[in-house]
Amino acid sequence: MKGILLAGGMGSRLLPLTQSLSKQILPIYDKPMIYYPLSTLMLAGIRDILIISSERDIKGFKALLGDGKCYGLSISYKVQSSPRGIAEAFIIGESFIGQEAVSLILGDNIFYGDDFEKTLEKVMRDQEGATIFGYKVENPEAFGVVSFNKEGKVTALEEKPKNPKSCYAVPGLYFYTPDVVQIAKSLKPSLRGELEITDVNKVYLNQNHLRVECLDKKVVWLDTGTPEALLKAANFVEMVQKMQGVAIGCIEEVAYKKGFITKSQLVALAEKMGRNQYGNYLRGLLEG
Ligand code: TTP
Repeated sequence: MKGILLAGGMGSRLLPLTQSLSKQILPIYDKPMIYYPLSTLMLAGIRDILIISSERDIKGFKALLGDGKCYGLSISYKVQSSPRGIAEAFIIGESFIGQEAVSLILGDNIFYGDDFEKTLEKVMRDQEGATIFGYKVENPEAFGVVSFNKEGKVTALEEKPKNPKSCYAVPGLYFYTPDVVQIAKSLKPSLRGELEITDVNKVYLNQNHLRVECLDKKVVWLDTGTPEALLKAANFVEMVQKMQGVAIGCIEEVAYKKGFITKSQLVALAEKMGRNQYGNYLRGLLEG
């Protein structure tokens, strides 16, 4: 399974923060935003990852993560010249995807929960057709919305509907078969001029190949597109990390626990952080 991390976009709701910087490089408490979605792909066991961002911002991600080798990953990069929609990721990533299944995660989505890794492993195991997630929210009209029946079969998908048929939003994490590339190529831009991910999902739905995995409230899903959401996410990460003594979105820890890197590689990553709080946490993993 390949992984695509989409980290372009305008970030217009975060201006002036995003005037000269990518949204996904901004801090969420003690680490750059992109660490969180990257760690989610890693938790799923995905090691071959394509990061897509704008011409302006791609250099920053390369400087931050390089080729990913020190995390036991293979990271490559491609430019999206302008934000023409989430589904364009599959067209840009065509040669990267090849004949493999692919997961796409949006660069501003954070997932956290004890059982989340198990859910990801289940999705990876049972992968057939496409899988999206459903997450109950109070303001579904702000999201892609999924409706489903008692058996969990999807009955409708709507993009930012005025009168949503359900209160389940579709978070920015998706699993697809390799033919997602051809599906994305067949789409027409929507009224707002974007290739919509909801339209990709509708094709799978029409083929009866779309599954929904409901995330319960033991999983926290945060989308960090506005100043309030950015602050809320940072406060949440700080609170959990301080109270529970665990880290959220720590790619070095996930790499080590997943067996992507050895103990000595973790030591090297910890040393790079020096004697700060982050480095101390990594050293603590070696002792624990
Ligand atoms: P959005 O939050 O929909 O858009 P944005 O990040 O440009 O922000 P704003 O609405 O404030 O202008 O994007 C969700 C994620 O997908 C985000 O991580 C950026 C990414 N994205 C791209 O990389 N390319 C695209 O063409 C689009 C639409 C989004």
